[in-house]
Formats: sequence, C-alpha cells, structure tokens
Amino acid sequence: MKEMLLAAQRDGYGVGAFNIVNEQTARACIALAEEMRAPMLLQTSMVPLSVYGPEGMMDLLRPLAEKARVPVAVHLDHCTDPDFVKRCIDAGFTSVMMDASKLPPEENIAVTRDVVDYAHARGAVVEGELGAIVKAKDDLAARQSGEGAVSLEAARDYMARTGVDAFAPAVGTAHGLYRGEPKLNFELVRAIVALGMAPLVVHGGTGLSDENFRKLIAAGASKINISTAIKIAYYEGIAGYIQAHPDEKEQPLAIDQAAIAAVQDVVRRHIALFGTAHRV
Ligand code: 13P
Repeated sequence: MKEMLLAAQRDGYGVGAFNIVNEQTARACIALAEEMRAPMLLQTSMVPLSVYGPEGMMDLLRPLAEKARVPVAVHLDHCTDPDFVKRCIDAGFTSVMMDASKLPPEENIAVTRDVVDYAHARGAVVEGELGAIVKAKDDLAARQSGEGAVSLEAARDYMARTGVDAFAPAVGTAHGLYRGEPKLNFELVRAIVALGMAPLVVHGGTGLSDENFRKLIAAGASKINISTAIKIAYYEGIAGYIQAHPDEKEQPLAIDQAAIAAVQDVVRRHIALFGTAHRV
C-alpha cells in the first residue's frame, strides 16, 4: 500500500480504498482495476472478518490479488484490537489500520507504536488515526463545532512517535451518509501533507461531492476510503434484479452479476474521479 500511496502523492492523484465484503465484491473491484489499469486497494472491516476470519479472508483474497494484472494490496480497515491486528498481519494482510483513536492521545501513540513495530518486522505497513472520525448520522453538530479536530502539532507528534506509514487525521469527514454538507479542513490536509511524514488518508468518502474529492486530492490526500456506497450498491443491485425477475429463482449467479455490476458502477466512478486510471 505504501508504494501505491507514495506514487499517488508524487503524481497528484488519489487511490480509492474500496471496502469489500465477500468474493463477489472483491472480484468486482479487481476486474475493474484491470480494465481501467488502476492500482487497487481492497480493504475489509471487522464485520466481514467476523464471518470469514482473517485466515479465511486471505485464503480468498490472496490468489485473486496475486493473479491480478495490476497491483492489488489488501488492507485491514478500522480495528481497535491490537491483538486482532497482529493476527491479520500473521494471516497475510500487508497493510493494516490500528484505530486507537478513541484512547487518550498518549495511549493511542503507545498502542499504535507497538503495532507498527510488529508490522514492520514482518514487512507490513500501518495506518493510524488521530482525532475523531465520527459517524455521519449522529454527529454533524459535533463536526461543525470542530469537536475532535486535530492540531498540526498533535499530528506531527503522532506521526513522529508512532512511525505510521499512512495517517488518517480527522479533517471533517464522517462515515456513512452525510445529513448535510460536511465542512472539510483543506488547510489542515495541506499542512499535514507538507510535513512529508506519511501519506494522508481520508475516511468517509461516501457522499462527498466531486468538488470536495478534487480539492482533497489537490491538497495532497492519497488514500480515500469508500465503503457505504459499495454496500448500498450491492444491496440495490440484488434488490433491483429480484424485483425485475421474480421468476428466475433458479439463477443465483444472475443475482451475483447484478450485484457486481452495481458495485462496479460505484468503483468505476471513483477511480475516474480520483485520477487513478492508466497509472499502471
Ligand atoms: P464511508 O462508509 O462513509 O464511505 O467511509 C468509509 C471509510 O472511511 C472506511 O474506513
């Protein structure tokens, strides 16, 4: 992941990190990455991992990633448990997110540093979070009042002391569907990127306007996470197909294809918007 993000930072584009939940979503993303000649970050969060387990997930993803005709990295999204993060590294994740952002800053730094040491000794890289990247549905007021915001000094201190390979500061985005127009702190993105310490990650990509994506990338953001939009597309792809074909009960793969096509529409749009196409 780190090489992909450094190349993106150098050449001024973004890399979408798409949350996959199963084989269909993973195949949908990889096929599109190949078609568009885009480097691909596949990430998976704790819910799919509670079903597959880290080892089962890697049994599924490793052959797909290795056979892909473009670089594909597999990343663990938000995990608050350092032992589970280490288990994922042992299972073959080459990139992980240690999310200790709910802890007081000193504890966040200590927990993250420990995971960074473990990861680096095994050739893996770590994303860390500082500040509060909240859920969009319950927290517009808090974000707009600047609660959970990160100072440049705190960001510098966090990156220096943890040694993270990618940095996810709270810059005004939130996970899930926005209820209003988010207020993004482009100045902070620019200032953190100018420190030149670690590529910057934007969480909460679903629902941001094209203009906000462009401004974030212009400010130097390298990794942009997209999850909710993929899940909604998957659901709607299936629901729409079943509604339109109530009598095709013996064609389960057609349902999968509908889900894949819907997910690919979302991923295609973001790869094009982030400028990731034709980079490999
Ligand atoms: P969205 O679900 O808002 O796209 O956020 C994705 C994300 O940041 C995953 O970590």
